[in-house]
Amino acid sequence: MKGKLLIVFNSAHGYVKRYVDILGNALGCDAVPADKLRGDMLGGYDKILYIGSVRGGTLGGYKKIADYLDVIYKKFILCGVGLLPFRKERAERVKSVAVSVAYEKFVPAFYVQGGFDLDELSRTEKMSISMIVRQLKSASVIDEDGTYFLNAMNTPVDEVKQANIQPLIDYLDDKTVDPELYSPPEIIDPEEEKQFFEEMEKAASAPENKKRALKKKLKGK
Ligand SMILES: Cc1cc2nc3c(=O)[nH]c(=O)nc-3n(C[C@H](O)[C@H](O)[C@H](O)COP(=O)(O)O)c2cc1C
Repeated sequence: MKGKLLIVFNSAHGYVKRYVDILGNALGCDAVPADKLRGDMLGGYDKILYIGSVRGGTLGGYKKIADYLDVIYKKFILCGVGLLPFRKERAERVKSVAVSVAYEKFVPAFYVQGGFDLDELSRTEKMSISMIVRQLKSASVIDEDGTYFLNAMNTPVDEVKQANIQPLIDYLDDKTVDPELYSPPEIIDPEEEKQFFEEMEKAASAPENKKRALKKKLKGK
């Protein structure tokens, strides 16, 4: 791999950590748990990856790095690990819930399937999971994802393997990756970047209602 890579990670039960080890073996990198991260550790790297588990739609431990995004957004890569199998929409969702409007067009995001075992969870985690389960069961129709999630409550899942994270390994290794396998950045061109931030500036100085409308437009929603 060209350049230096830092991985910042959050792993409650070791699934994410196993992916960090796979990445480390494949690429060579430094790695730091999110709760040990300090701003001065981010200097001197060409790529900074945040990898953490998906928890009820949010990304565990992500807050620890979110504050530094205005400095590192051009070298930042995001990866969510969840119990559900890969789908491109999950990579897009990981990006849209974690990255602010100002930077999401610059950030590539990946999603990989990890693992889940109800018996490993803490009491608090079990309470959060039972809320998700209750919500799923109360829906009039339980879709494919819901069924997978509910089955995992009885049968542990462990899908941590190199093949699942190979697209991210290739991306970090500067190889071309099929855009169907992740959520690519939308802005790479410096001229487009300049234009984007000019529009953001305009949005910031516009009256409140205009600002909201512009942000929505920039987000493409
Ligand atoms: C409280 C809780 C909420 C979770 N929510 C989701 C979720 O919304 N979607 C998903 O795919 N997986 C969800 N998971 C599963 C984890 O993302 C998955 O088990 C991951 O591999 C955990 O990695 P880690 O133990 O290394 O942190 C949840 C797990 C817990 C404990």
